[in-house]
Amino acid sequence: MIIRVLGSAAGGGFPQWNCNCNNCSSVRAGKPGYTARTQSSIAVSSNGQDWLLFNASPDILTQLKMAGSRLQPAESVRDSGIKAIVLMDAQIDHTTGLFMLRESSGPLTIHSTKEVRGDLSAGNPIFNVLDFYCKVNWVEIDLNNSSETKISEVEGITLNFMSLKSEAPPFSPFRGKPRPGDNVGVQIVDENSGKKVFYAPGLCSIEEHLIGPMKSSDLLLVDGTFWTDTEMIDNGLSKKLAREMGHNPQSGPGGMIENLSHIDGPRKVLIHINNSNPILNEMSEERKILEKNDIEVSYDGMEVLL
Ligand code: MLT
Ligand code: MN
Ligand code: ZN
Repeated sequence: MIIRVLGSAAGGGFPQWNCNCNNCSSVRAGKPGYTARTQSSIAVSSNGQDWLLFNASPDILTQLKMAGSRLQPAESVRDSGIKAIVLMDAQIDHTTGLFMLRESSGPLTIHSTKEVRGDLSAGNPIFNVLDFYCKVNWVEIDLNNSSETKISEVEGITLNFMSLKSEAPPFSPFRGKPRPGDNVGVQIVDENSGKKVFYAPGLCSIEEHLIGPMKSSDLLLVDGTFWTDTEMIDNGLSKKLAREMGHNPQSGPGGMIENLSHIDGPRKVLIHINNSNPILNEMSEERKILEKNDIEVSYDGMEVLL
């Protein structure tokens, strides 16, 4: 199985267009130790031909350009290696790239929960708009019946979905009133090798039912948004806490570093890193703490073969 990180940043990307924080100024100035990043998404393939896209980032066109022919089999005059799309939530940074795929020759096959479909048909009606272009072939992720979901469009991959306690997007009527199905995590299984990846770019806490799937995975690709709960407030960027936004900060009691220390075995990699996070400076103390804890930071174009 090939796992390609198309984008490793949280909403806004790195640098963020209107941000002059120390990180964004440094990467813009080309300082050593800082690497630009697009908004988060991964693509997974078992046979190297058919790809399953997880989230459609607003930066998808740049990401596909960066990938060269990796996701472009060029078997007909108009085609793509992307055979289906899985949405983990309805957030802007995970869904607005769908507009960029509107030239698709056939309907886009999109797997999501009915909660996500609801938010993308009302608060931000992307699905309705796409009906004027390529149309959407929606396939429900049913969390009551979600183990071993076969993705018929992509050979050799089975998905196990899990409900996550996080947050619906700000435009959802359910913001602040989370429902199961607003956010999902997934264990991606390669049927041939048996290798497994746990993917959850938005993860507020490691709930009991996630521990088993995390421990049985070979690779964890998890929420790396913030270093501290108060990061946005401390930097004068927003009034929101990390946890209020549905993200588990890395440091401190109950933080991601502590949580991951209880999970032995898998390779641990952070994704969806916000531009305010000090780990974006490769020379930082925070980055050294991650290294000491065997936690890696993903980057655009990173590939893992399992
Ligand atoms: C989040 O991950 O909390 C959201 O993507 C934030 C946003 O949309 O700006
Ligand atoms: Mn996000
Ligand atoms: Zn910034």
